[in-house]
This record gives sequence, structure tokens and C-alpha cells, in this order.
Amino acid sequence: MRISVVGCGYLGAVHAASMAELGHDVVGVDVDEPKIAALAQARAPFYEPGFEDLLARTLATGRLRFTTDVADAAGAQVHFVCVGTPQKRGEYAADLRFVEAATESLLQVLAPGDLVVGKSTVPVGTAARLAEVVTEKVPGAVLVWNPEFLREGFAVQDTLHPDRLVYGLPGGADGETAKRTLDEVYADIVARGTPKVVTDYATAEMVKTAANSFLATKISFINAMAELCEATGADVLQLADAIGFDDRIGRKFLNAGLGFGGGCLPKDIRAFMARAGELGADQALTFLREVDNINMRRRIRMVELAREVCDGSLLGKRIAVLGAAFKPDSDDIRDSPALNVAAQLQLQGAVVCVTDPAAVDNSRRQWPQLDYADTPEEAAARADAVLVLTEWRQYRELDPVAFGQVVRQKRVLDGRNALDREAWTAAGWTYRALGRRAG
Ligand code: UDX
Repeated sequence: MRISVVGCGYLGAVHAASMAELGHDVVGVDVDEPKIAALAQARAPFYEPGFEDLLARTLATGRLRFTTDVADAAGAQVHFVCVGTPQKRGEYAADLRFVEAATESLLQVLAPGDLVVGKSTVPVGTAARLAEVVTEKVPGAVLVWNPEFLREGFAVQDTLHPDRLVYGLPGGADGETAKRTLDEVYADIVARGTPKVVTDYATAEMVKTAANSFLATKISFINAMAELCEATGADVLQLADAIGFDDRIGRKFLNAGLGFGGGCLPKDIRAFMARAGELGADQALTFLREVDNINMRRRIRMVELAREVCDGSLLGKRIAVLGAAFKPDSDDIRDSPALNVAAQLQLQGAVVCVTDPAAVDNSRRQWPQLDYADTPEEAAARADAVLVLTEWRQYRELDPVAFGQVVRQKRVLDGRNALDREAWTAAGWTYRALGRRAG
């Protein structure tokens, strides 16, 4: 099939290459020229394991190309909308400017019978509104909503092997035809028996925001338990293991620590609350405000813990921050808890040096006031405390004995409960973690 993908950011670029991998003829469109130039030369504009290989492989087949001109999308039967929906400045609501512009730009190339497939995360009600625009301007073209659930760091795997497909379709014959077309697009995935939920627009839109709200709630739940563990001397790691053995609960997403960040969970729960307010159903989601509050409190607690171990004052203390990305295997620093903590420490007078295996360049651009180092050893040279704030494998595998040689004070704060407490304390470190007793 001939496919276009409008928006070649994180979601779109991976989606375009994945569609080519599935055998389709794909054109990726984006207004960002440097991004398109990089992609066309098989260079990923962001860090994502496995993506460059996929890109090189699919570009080599000739089935994938990139362009800045949406006119090149003409002739495709299926047009994916994969642009971002960031949080509006100073508001909770999602900014739909890019989704609207992308859909608008497609109107010039759409032909009757074409499918516009929304993949971006949007407030419920958006698809119905966009569908009206599409069908009014191009009678016979159909809009569907097909949310994407990919995780950064696993984007290729999640796109090629999703755990479910969700089709939000219009009613009637258009919906039937659209379903058949989507089944063709995802033929390999459908043939594998991947669960499929075929539904209406509103449900499809809500599946995504509900899933992210649930995940955020699960993380904040265990972080609330961590607060209680800190108050009672209980251990949140053992608690998570013990409740996680109940398969109705499950151990995944019960890792207590600095909480969630990134380009999805924080803004999605906020946009969901804003939309519920518009719909007069805000009461249903007031718990999400608490989920957000618990999450933000962890960052403040981390700074307090740093002050505590630094004998009550951060002024002039050298602090090494290991990790800047919002999670490992990513160079994404959007709403990064690690950088938020690093900035707060600096504001309180600490001399902060940040390191990260992938996210230093991005961090430097956005937080130029912080100091950066290429390695944990450089960041921690003569440090009064070391904070592990993103659980990269490199940091989990640090040798506490050798690492102890570079610091001034052997104090480690494990913001992600990622280190081996026994090994670090045996090497003479004062070990502190969120939700755990001092080691
Ligand atoms: C998330 C959803 O998982 C994905 O399905 C959706 O499409 C986009 O949003 P992503 O933002 O890539 O994906 O990251 P995810 O792995 O979900 O982690 C989100 C945040 O939660 C990270 O900051 C992570 O460190 C944190 N987290 C995750 C925890 O603090 N504890 C956990 O147990 C799990």
C-alpha cells in the first residue's frame, strides 16, 4: 500500500520506518528540514535503540523516503497524522495546533476513498471534529483514530509488535471500509493474532488517555506508599514485590522513586483533567490531580534528602547528578525529574554537575546554567554527594569501590531504587533512597 506519515518526530519517524518494514511504500513528511535531511540519510534525530538500523534497512529497500513537501503525499491511500500534542503554555489543556495544521495540510492531497489515520494523543472529541472538516472538504475521504502506545526506548518493538490495535471508526459503510483498509495496513500484526478493539472515535481517543492515567496512577500509588514507608521505617521495594506477586496487581510500574516525567504521562493526565472539566465531568478525574501532586512531591523530597545528607545545607556543596533523561535508553529530557532536581539543587546553592550517556547535548541546550560532564567519574570528582536520578544500566553497574575513590564524601542517593544497597554500603557509602531505610 502507499502510505504517508505526517509528522516525523518520535512517533512518526518510527511509524514511517515500521510501515516500510511491513512492506508498504511510505513517504514521511515534516516541516523541519534538518530533521528530514537527517532521516533521509538514515540518521536518527533522537536516541532510540534499534531505530537507525531499521531506518537504514528500510531506506535501502527504496520503500521509504522523506520530504518537507506535503504534496509528495498525493497518491497515498492512507495518511497517518503523527504530530505532537504538547501541553499549552500556562494551561493544562493540550495544544492541538499541530494536529489541526497537519490535517488541514492533507486536504490538498486527499482523494475520495483515502483514509486519514490519527495516531496522536488527543482530547476526546477531537476526531469527530476533524472528521467533519475532512469529509466536508473531501467527500468520500474517511478519518479514523488509531492511538499509538509506544514507549520510548522500545519504540521499534512496540510499533512492530504492539500488544493491541485500537481502531476508532465512524459508523456505517465508511467504518467497514476503513476497518478493512487498516487490517491491510497492519496485515502482519493482525495475522499474528494481536488483540484488536474496534470501536468509535471517543472510546479510541480515551483508551490512550485512560491507559496513561492508569500507569501514572500506579506509579504515584507506589510513591505514596514510599512516603508512608519513609514515615514508618518500612521498605517500599519489599512492599512492591509483595503486592506485585498478586497478579491482579502485577509488579510492573511499581518502581518507587523520583516518579514519572517525559513527553506523555505528565501532559496527558493534565490534558485529560482539562478535557473532563470542559465536559462538566471534572469530578471523575480529581484523583489525577493528587497523582500529579504525589509525583511532584518526590522531586522536592529528593532535594530535601540531598540537604539532609549534606549536613543540613546545600550551599557550596558539590553534587553529582547521574542521569538527565526522563528515563534510561532515551535522550528525551521533556519534564525530566532528574533535571528538575538538579536545577532545584543549584538554586539552593549547590554546585551541580550532571552527566548522562545520551542526553547531555539536549540538556545543555535547555539548561545551560548547569555544569555537565561526559562520565560519572568526571561528574563526581570531589563530590559531597552523588545522586542517581535516571537508572541507566551504566549507573546500576558502577563499581562502588572504584567509584568511591573519586568523590570527597561517599554519600549516594538512589533516586530510582536502582543500586545494590548492600554493595554500596559494604564499600563504605552512606546510602539513601526514597521509601527505604538509610543504609
Ligand atoms: C508512556 C507509556 O508507557 C506509553 O504507552 C505511551 O504511549 C507514552 O507514555 P514513555 O513516556 O515512553 O511511555 O515512558 P514509560 O516507560 O511509560 O515511563 C514513564 C515515566 O514513568 C518515566 O519517567 C519512568 O521513569 C517512570 N516510571 C515508570 C516510574 O517512575 N516507575 C515505574 O515503575 C515505571
